[in-house]
Amino acid sequence: METREQFATKLGFILAAVGSAVGLGNIWRFSYVAGESGGATFLLIYVICIFLIGLPVLLAEFSIGRRGQSDVVGSFNNIAPGKPWVIAGILGVLTSFLILSFYGVIAGWVLYYFFSFVTGQAGGIEQEGYGEFFEAFIGGGLSPVIWQFIFMALVLGIVFFGVKKGIELSNKVFMPLLALILIFLAGYSLTLDGAGEGLAFLFSPDWTAFGDFNVWSAAIGQAFFTLSLGMGAMITYSSYLSKQAKLPSAAGGVVALDTLFAIVAGIVIFPAVFTFASVEPGDGPGLIFIALPEVFNLMGGGGVIFGIFFFFLVAIAALSSAISLLEVSVSYVMRQLNWNRRKATLLAGVAVTLFGVPSALSQGGPIPFDFLDLVDTVTDQYTLPLGGFIIALFVGWGWNKVDVLKETGLTDTTIGLIWIWFLRIIAPVGILLILIQNVISAITG
Ligand code: PFF
Repeated sequence: METREQFATKLGFILAAVGSAVGLGNIWRFSYVAGESGGATFLLIYVICIFLIGLPVLLAEFSIGRRGQSDVVGSFNNIAPGKPWVIAGILGVLTSFLILSFYGVIAGWVLYYFFSFVTGQAGGIEQEGYGEFFEAFIGGGLSPVIWQFIFMALVLGIVFFGVKKGIELSNKVFMPLLALILIFLAGYSLTLDGAGEGLAFLFSPDWTAFGDFNVWSAAIGQAFFTLSLGMGAMITYSSYLSKQAKLPSAAGGVVALDTLFAIVAGIVIFPAVFTFASVEPGDGPGLIFIALPEVFNLMGGGGVIFGIFFFFLVAIAALSSAISLLEVSVSYVMRQLNWNRRKATLLAGVAVTLFGVPSALSQGGPIPFDFLDLVDTVTDQYTLPLGGFIIALFVGWGWNKVDVLKETGLTDTTIGLIWIWFLRIIAPVGILLILIQNVISAITG
């Protein structure tokens, strides 16, 4: 067995965790799910879910990983040998595999846009023409698969050589750059004709929709997805963490940054959506690929440069998230089969890439059934919340309270007590209600 890697510093770990959290979920997924689920009401419920459920579960995952010092399955087995809690670990390996399969497809779209802005192909398209441009690409036979493969080759390459070296540096440089460009673009979006309507859509809730369970379901799924929760990515990363690092502040930092990224992305996108007649908030997964290039187009010559930078930085953000997704399976295979990192990466990486091909081909391409949507729904409505549910119960009830609090450095603190009770009652009950509703609405159609 190879010795376990460790992050050099706490900052390195936080950067890696932020790198995992901030990705397509904040920009691509947040905007289209918010757009489909009514904007401001969704945003409010999403923020509630982040603080009532996401933050406590994130800290729970950090504690499990650091204490378990192993992959997601091994960590449960180390802390609670012979107990059924390990089901959450097995579910995590499965879920991270499923998510990465389509994540690579969307990231491939991002790479294609980056490339098209570099070559000039995506510049100078007539106004309101990006819907057609996008559809021609995703429905255009094999090219989405080729871009998915290119992206996945990058992910495999980095995981092949070891996660730590690959991400600490890139997150230090590229994450702040992405933040800067988003803030700048948000400023520009606020000057667009649709700015008022876009902001109202994002920030002025429709209280009658507050009781709509579909919005709650979408919000909780998004909360798990965006914080990389419920499938062991954060358990795996914190298993590479030394005993000294303080977990609660790390969890708070990750949640704050991740949420800010999503909100700023919303301020970039919704004013644009309401500026162009050809784009609607409920347009679905194509939203950023259609609305944002229209904005770059409006900017004139400089817009192409923005297009290049924006899609480059989003691709890097996606890369650091995809790495954490693949790392869940790789660290599991390494320990379970006693394989070295390279062999495990090749096996898991190739399998997940091939499994993603039907998703790539089902967006207007040759496969008529929306496979991507199916995999996304199964994970964000069922397996992610279920994983989070078990993790909350495990840390709340299954693991000795004194040990838990010691692991997080929260012994004898009010925060520690509140946290434990959130894990015991609020998070599991909230998740369970939504899971049950999801099952009921799937059955009754
Ligand atoms: N949190 C990532 C995003 O928002 O793009 C996606 C993700 C990464 C989900 C890692 C799950 C995961 F384990």
